Amino acid sequence: MDVHIRTYRSTDLETIKRLTVEAFDGVSIDRNIEDQFGPINHRDWRWRKARHIDFDVQRDADGVFVAELAGQVVGYITTFRDRDAGMGVIPNLAVDSEQRGRGIGRQLIEFALSNFRKEGLTHAKIETLDQNDVGQGLYPSLGFREVARQIHYCMELESPKNL
Ligand SMILES: CC(C)(COP(=O)(O)OP(=O)(O)OC[C@H]1O[C@@H](n2cnc3c(N)ncnc32)[C@H](O)[C@@H]1OP(=O)(O)O)[C@@H](O)C(=O)NCCC(=O)NCCS
Repeated sequence: MDVHIRTYRSTDLETIKRLTVEAFDGVSIDRNIEDQFGPINHRDWRWRKARHIDFDVQRDADGVFVAELAGQVVGYITTFRDRDAGMGVIPNLAVDSEQRGRGIGRQLIEFALSNFRKEGLTHAKIETLDQNDVGQGLYPSLGFREVARQIHYCMELESPKNL
């Protein structure tokens, strides 16, 4: 079945947030933080991760694309076109677990890269976690080169009355 990639519409928001919380279990910094510290401020990692999509949409809604299969949204990619820097950034990407391994993730990235080129951008950036085996295979196979590794830290803050 053919995959159709189109620009995001506001009516896609809840679907792509649902895909996000389903997809990022095990491959998200927010989930790692919760594993060590538990829910924070009465919010769980799903709420935190889904909020990233709100931010992505607020920043550059025309840079968000969804993949449809038989009229259903089964994946998305968020991008940010940093024109001053000449850089296209891909903050988030997910495909429904039922539809993975069919090339939809690759098509979404290629679509985003082609959009960056049309916009006159010269470079593209994407990140993945060390624990994400798919990203580390997929991104270099599309032409991305590793440029850095980063370590994320988190700590619990003591309440002021205990200090
Ligand atoms: C990353 C993701 C979007 C890829 O979507 P997809 O539609 O399955 O991607 P594709 O089918 O285009 O390609 C997946 C590639 O990863 C490979 N792959 C699949 N599982 C793998 C694994 N466990 N380890 C290494 N590579 C793997 C596939 O063989 C394929 O490579 P190929 O094109 O050379 O055959 C999807 O796996 C996903 O939503 N993951 C959870 C969220 C996530 O990790 N997002 C990215 C954050 S950086």
